[in-house]
Amino acid sequence: MIRRNRILRTSPAIRSMVAENILKPSDFIAPLFIVEGSNVEEAIPSMPGYYRRSIDGTIKEVKVLWSLGIKSVLLFIKCADELKDNKGTEAVNPDGLMQRSIRAIKNALPEMVVMTDVALDPYSSYGHDGIVEGEIIVNDATVEVLTRMSLSHAQAGADFVAPSDMMDGRILAIRQMLEAHNFVNTGIMAYSAKYASCFYGPFRDALDSAPGFGDKKTYQMDYANSKEAIRETLMDIEEGADIVMVKPAMAYLDIMRIIKDRVTVPVSAYHVSGEYAMIKAAAERGWLNEEKAVMESLTSMKRAGADLIATYFAKDAAKLING
Ligand code: PBG
Repeated sequence: MIRRNRILRTSPAIRSMVAENILKPSDFIAPLFIVEGSNVEEAIPSMPGYYRRSIDGTIKEVKVLWSLGIKSVLLFIKCADELKDNKGTEAVNPDGLMQRSIRAIKNALPEMVVMTDVALDPYSSYGHDGIVEGEIIVNDATVEVLTRMSLSHAQAGADFVAPSDMMDGRILAIRQMLEAHNFVNTGIMAYSAKYASCFYGPFRDALDSAPGFGDKKTYQMDYANSKEAIRETLMDIEEGADIVMVKPAMAYLDIMRIIKDRVTVPVSAYHVSGEYAMIKAAAERGWLNEEKAVMESLTSMKRAGADLIATYFAKDAAKLING
């Protein structure tokens, strides 16, 4: 035998010397769910260990995340039912919960990179990502609202807007809107290859944003396809996206690899709510070791090419990495 592959696996020291992919806390983007009120911390049954918090508690959490080395948070808000409509009125409210949350976080911790979800679903009386006419999710009218929504987030201090809606042409329209108002340092993280996935279920519980009729298959991508992911992503980059995203993560590592090999901008994975719930559920039953399952899953995303990983395990993983 002239090559014994086990030599490089002999000890922890040797293994750590030759490890190709090492997670670090700054790889992670921590999603946060925000609700109105003060001192509110609501458990989300389908996401054990994850909470909806009011702005005050969110700020405390953001400080903890920063102390662990996490550099970025991705904000989602739970909109009150009476504020939902079919026009995204609350989405563009300069004093809306999202806009106030951005200001409060940037005020408390200016260095934290604040990213914001841009889509109408939490604000929509239909639970869809865009404006609804009949049974149709109307593209161009939705894009127009998304541009104003993005501008309002930038005005509140967001560092990146993250359009998750999958309408056509929204990245260019948002970029033009930001340029027109001189927000030349506001980034766009585009959910470029976002699939119509059952793995978003727990998130929709968390924000009460499940579609009231139908599904999201006329705008989110069909999981049968991969070429479409390339087309969507290349177009988003041409339209001005700074970071592109593949979502979900675990069942789409092939897509991550294809995209990573084709583009030069940073690529983020979104390890979504259902993927979080699966690990939690198995761990609760004693069927999986949670810490090991988390680190193996997140490392696989990095190995597939992810430069960044949005994950509900961000805090736990950062703690494990820091030791
Ligand atoms: C909103 C949005 C969704 C997620 C992120 N942004 C839900 C959806 O598209 O239905 C899902 C995140 C997750 O499941 O963790 N458009």
